[in-house]
Amino acid sequence: MSGDGVTRRGILGGGVTAASLALAASPAAALLQARGAARAAGQRMPNGLELPATPPRRKRPDSVGFAIVGLGNYALNQMMPRFAEAERAHVAAIVSGNPDKLQRVGDAYGVPQDARYSYETFANIASDDRIDAVYIVLPSGLHADWTIRAFAARKHVLCEKPMALSGAECERMIAASGRANRKLMIAYRSHFEPYNLQAMELMAQGAVGQLRLIRSEQSYRMGPTSPSQNWRANRALAGGGPLEDYGIYGLQAALYLAREMPESISATAFRPGADPRFGEIFAHVSSQLRFPSGAIAQLATSYDSSGINFVDVRGTTGALIMDPATSYSGQKMRLEGRDRREFTPGDPSVQFARQLDHFADAIRGGTRIRTPGEMGLRDLRLFEAIYASAAAGRTVKLNPDGTMRS
Ligand SMILES: NC(=O)c1ccc[n+]([C@@H]2O[C@H](COP(=O)([O-])OP(=O)(O)OC[C@H]3O[C@@H](n4cnc5c(N)ncnc54)[C@H](OP(=O)(O)O)[C@@H]3O)[C@@H](O)[C@H]2O)c1
Repeated sequence: MSGDGVTRRGILGGGVTAASLALAASPAAALLQARGAARAAGQRMPNGLELPATPPRRKRPDSVGFAIVGLGNYALNQMMPRFAEAERAHVAAIVSGNPDKLQRVGDAYGVPQDARYSYETFANIASDDRIDAVYIVLPSGLHADWTIRAFAARKHVLCEKPMALSGAECERMIAASGRANRKLMIAYRSHFEPYNLQAMELMAQGAVGQLRLIRSEQSYRMGPTSPSQNWRANRALAGGGPLEDYGIYGLQAALYLAREMPESISATAFRPGADPRFGEIFAHVSSQLRFPSGAIAQLATSYDSSGINFVDVRGTTGALIMDPATSYSGQKMRLEGRDRREFTPGDPSVQFARQLDHFADAIRGGTRIRTPGEMGLRDLRLFEAIYASAAAGRTVKLNPDGTMRS
């Protein structure tokens, strides 16, 4: 991409998303940007939905009651069923723009009629004492707005990744959390998954010697679609596309395995012409992060190449290979080199319930949140640097907090 004249001030100014200036290089994209913010609106029931035959019960009197905001695929097919495995978290309320979902999902999960909210009645959760926390599972471009609304109702917030679409939005979310004196956690589930936890431990122990290179790729091929059919192809809801949605796992892994912040980034982003899937978002983003130790991370992510989710970490004495690295289940991990070993540290599917219990413990017991809003902010700043580098066609230098150096 050519991006002459894209400045740091332009990229950070006025609440634009991390990707918007890089994308606004095309007049069509600039027009779409002018359409303004996206709105929450009910969608049809996801395919293949299985609802519980009997409503799950809360396990403890001090269990944290969650309001689930956005009954989409991930909420209904992954997270809501996992509440039954959590010790200290339960579904107390649901929020949806689709009345049929409110009825069917509410009945299946035993959610009382008066704990079923629409986006229009959401503010009423403020006086609902059954709700301690709000879980935001909306399209990414709606995370900031609805997180801030939840804080205005004085609830704690668990927000899905990516935290938002710009560093400025993240800062507003953190400020709202502070004003409300309520907690904010980003749902970075790999921090609760046994393989990734063991990988972090191995790196802390120097299992590959001195770190030299991390390579990661998170890609899949998006089916035929367009920005009006699929929020993941819509810039106002998805930012630049694959990086915020899937490549975020590679960035996260690079940071928790390298255990340092990059000092510079160089990146490229590609959008094929005349493909309705990529009218507003990028198809591929690849970036190179340079760490103060001299180690490099090469991250690639795509919505238009065949499926992969791997992380490969190379050091002076060995390599740690994770493939798949950050899936819901089926992780594989091996060490090569001086110490050859396969690892089977536990069932990856515990990550969902552990994440819920971790947040419940922070709310009830005041324990430290492993994946706080500040981590989400850090990642959005790095995305901004990636897009800035891609737009300008040059390396971007970073401050230790991930902001770009002028
Ligand atoms: N941590 C993970 O592993 C993981 C995996 C997948 C997704 N996610 C995250 O979870 C969030 C939701 O993703 P998803 O895959 O569940 O998406 P999805 O299936 O499309 O569901 C999104 C839901 O949000 C609600 N919504 C409100 N306004 C909307 C609008 N303007 N356009 C589309 N939907 C709107 C709808 O719920 P109602 O019909 O009930 O209103 C919709 O069903 C995203 O932030 C994503 O990054 C995380």
